[in-house]
Amino acid sequence: MRTLLVTGGAGFIGSNFIQYMLGKHTEISIINLDKLTYAGNLENLKTVEHDDRYRFVEGDICNAEIVNRLVPEADVIVNFAAESHVDRSIGKPDDFIKTDIYGVFVLLEAARSNGIQRFVQISTDEVYGSREKGHFSETDPLMPSSPYAASKSGADRLVYSYYVTYRLPVVIPRSSNNFGPYQYPEKLIPLFVTNALENKKLPIYGDGLNVRDWLYVMDNCEAIELIMEQGRDGEAYNVGAGNEYSNLEITRFILDFLHKPESLMTFVEDRKGHDRRYALDIGKTCALGWKPRHSFQEAMKETIQWYCHHREWWEKLKSGEYLEYYRKQYQNRL
Ligand code: NAD
Ligand code: DAU
Repeated sequence: MRTLLVTGGAGFIGSNFIQYMLGKHTEISIINLDKLTYAGNLENLKTVEHDDRYRFVEGDICNAEIVNRLVPEADVIVNFAAESHVDRSIGKPDDFIKTDIYGVFVLLEAARSNGIQRFVQISTDEVYGSREKGHFSETDPLMPSSPYAASKSGADRLVYSYYVTYRLPVVIPRSSNNFGPYQYPEKLIPLFVTNALENKKLPIYGDGLNVRDWLYVMDNCEAIELIMEQGRDGEAYNVGAGNEYSNLEITRFILDFLHKPESLMTFVEDRKGHDRRYALDIGKTCALGWKPRHSFQEAMKETIQWYCHHREWWEKLKSGEYLEYYRKQYQNRL
């Protein structure tokens, strides 16, 4: 039995990853350490909460006492924990610096003193900054634009330094924009789908022509597992799907699919420091034997349908009732 310490596993990608790993493997156990910020949601893990191989621990990756208690139980650490929303980092960067950099330092120190087999740092394509043409490869310089991207870049290179200095066996997946179920409705796709369902305006920043490469979350989970198992120590791996769409194209896809009028689109002030385009060369990850398996159109339709069928999941989050709900439902069981 191999034990994974998954941090930030109550968020969007982490919860998909936990369900994916427990569904695929029998000889595996997972400890999920999550602080349950506004973005952490135990409802995302209902399918595994009674699985004997799964354990939830509420706690902060910046808290060395908790981290040092859990790391000796683990063979592998997969760190998803982060403040992850660019707009929030522009408004108030403090927690980004704390969690995304200092928290990673705490995890690395514990990993180093406990001889962990693998440290997987979930990084992002935002570390490279923006690019009008061509694709970023893993050796390109990091030129992050937002406090979020800068904190993730700091962590990315801090993790690398632990490989160079201490030979800690680290790998660093850098993925593009994920979409799928359980994504907090502040990010473009779930925000626009849920706003459209409520006949609310869809706030498009600037001219709406910023481009992102959209990756279905399950394809990312498969890539993370492969990089964890077969990636070379100290290396970063780009994970993207080549689904380059402007925000306007994404918006129209959503409105079309839901039969909602274009009059719901509203152009608002641009995001400060708004990156124009992200695009990745994924050859290095494909060489490990991975490729994205889901078509963009099909995965988008499934994702939109998921939000249509899980109104109770996102309505609580949007109305701010979630924390109160969480206390009532879960506190006695933790
Ligand atoms: P998310 O915001 O949905 O989830 C983050 C999780 O981390 C939450 O459960 C939150 O409670 C937890 N957390 C926050 N601070 C913590 C702390 N100090 N200690 C313990 N737990 C803490 O994020 P996501 O979209 O699932 O992203 C997960 C990871 O993937 C992040 O590291 C992010 O930078 C990276 N990433 C995300 C995307 C994307 O498109 N969403 C793309 C590339 C990389
Ligand atoms: O590229 C990977 C990154 O993708 C991750 O590292 C981040 O954690 C994740 O949040 C995401 O960052 P983005 O800033 O690209 O995602 P977001 O969903 O916030 O925005 C996508 C695009 O949509 C971006 O160009 C801004 C635009 N946008 C977003 C929102 C929330 C709007 O036009 N209106 C909006 O209301």
